[in-house]
Amino acid sequence: MSKHIAIIGGGNLGSAIAEGLLKSKFNKPSEITITRRNTVALNFLKEKGILITDDNNEAVQKSDVVILAVKPFQVADVLTEIKNKLDSSKIFISVVTGVTISEIENIIQQKLPLFRAMPNTAIAIQQSMTCICSKDATTKEVDYVNDLFDKLGSVVTIDEKLMEAATILGACGIAYALRFIRANIQGGIEIGFDAATASLIAAQTVKGSAELLIQTGRHPEQEIDKVTTPKGCTIAGLNEMEHRGFSSSLIRGVVASYKKIAKD
Ligand SMILES: NC(=O)c1ccc[n+]([C@@H]2O[C@H](COP(=O)([O-])OP(=O)(O)OC[C@H]3O[C@@H](n4cnc5c(N)ncnc54)[C@H](OP(=O)(O)O)[C@@H]3O)[C@@H](O)[C@H]2O)c1
Repeated sequence: MSKHIAIIGGGNLGSAIAEGLLKSKFNKPSEITITRRNTVALNFLKEKGILITDDNNEAVQKSDVVILAVKPFQVADVLTEIKNKLDSSKIFISVVTGVTISEIENIIQQKLPLFRAMPNTAIAIQQSMTCICSKDATTKEVDYVNDLFDKLGSVVTIDEKLMEAATILGACGIAYALRFIRANIQGGIEIGFDAATASLIAAQTVKGSAELLIQTGRHPEQEIDKVTTPKGCTIAGLNEMEHRGFSSSLIRGVVASYKKIAKD
């Protein structure tokens, strides 16, 4: 029998998780309850058979799995509200950025399987990269949570101390990759393509490059060697990009984002 899932905070991420679970058939619509205060904004999920409510306690009480997807500043209030409905039979998963397992424990004051998951916005199309850590969970519970997020993309288990780094590389990484694609589109238009064609070529080429690495497990440079003919156009362009600080600027950007999240 599958578990009933409550998603507390049906905003961008919470709704995307609900839609992904439906599309993947991980759960039946009637086995998912999603909450927010403005429930009208959840009508599109209600039409698909998902249960919607503004009552967090009711949602938690009837669920085996609770996914917390509110903003970080809303966590304390929501956890205080629902803590009496939580117990050790429920799996608790927080997708909230920057709130630690020990901060959650301090508020709920009880022991239950606790998970933090860091997905990215590609979860809406079941292509998320989700980094997961846990405390007090059995192997069966870990397998269940990995399976849940596996239906929404790929999963990797990490130590909690790497959660901020996961936020940068995985969640912010979407923005870095999209800026790279946008720059290619701008270049593509300058060398003759209309915007729509340039967008398709740039996006599909990046998708293909990523799949080459994921499916073969090779290092990027092995694939780069295949397209860099001696004295050719690829190496001329690549070297010019490197002279202009391409790799260096990307690394510095990742580190600048990390310093910001670590400081705030
Ligand atoms: N977006 C991402 O790429 C991403 C990736 C990884 C992690 N995260 C994390 O995921 C969390 C949600 O992000 P988001 O982008 O989905 O934010 P969001 O769109 O603002 O969603 C938060 C939702 O929580 C609801 N909410 C607020 N107070 C509530 C309460 N007392 N009871 C029930 N629902 C309540 C809000 O709706 P009402 O105002 O109608 O109640 C809102 O829809 C954040 O903590 C973020 O750090 C996001």
